Amino acid sequence: MTDPTPPTGIGNVPAQPITLRVGEHGASATGSLFDRIGGAPTFDRLVRRFYEGVQQDDVIWPMYPADDLEGAIWRLSAFLQQYWGGPGTYSEERGHPRLRMRHNPFRITSEARERWLLHMREAVESLGLAPLDEAELWAYLDRAAHAMTNTFD
Ligand code: HEM
Repeated sequence: MTDPTPPTGIGNVPAQPITLRVGEHGASATGSLFDRIGGAPTFDRLVRRFYEGVQQDDVIWPMYPADDLEGAIWRLSAFLQQYWGGPGTYSEERGHPRLRMRHNPFRITSEARERWLLHMREAVESLGLAPLDEAELWAYLDRAAHAMTNTFD
């Protein structure tokens, strides 16, 4: 049977997967950052490592739900997976992210933001990602953390 799906290319040129880079050993880097860095297990490692740091932090840990740490781990990991092209489970469970609004109950000063970024930086570095993937992930996290700041001295 022929494939009933019409090609989605331009004119009569069918769409082709684009090879962005070919590595020294032949592996090509295509698709989402979610896939490139190893999918859900990598995001879970990132977020677990992040929360290990947060739990040692006397400025921001008091804001977090100590009795629902596994829930918090799930929420942040699922959100990041969805953002980077993985499954949309976060929004299926939690609705639209509306992250700034969801952070309104917390006093996010520049000090709190820098603590958050410190633990996230350590967590990102622990993954040992390819430099371009690490830079892309970090640029987003840094920008998002600045956008989440809601209390100015
Ligand atoms: C700038 C410093 C930040 C602080 C101090 C902070 C603090 C918090 C706290 C206390 C919670 C509640 C924990 C929970 O019950 O899940 C939370 C939730 C969350 N945060 Fe942050 N956050 C910061 C930045 C960010 C950034 C940059 C992102 C995204 C890139 C983010 C994504 C989330 C998500 C997805 C949730 C769960 C939302 C929900 O579904 O309820 N946060 N954050």
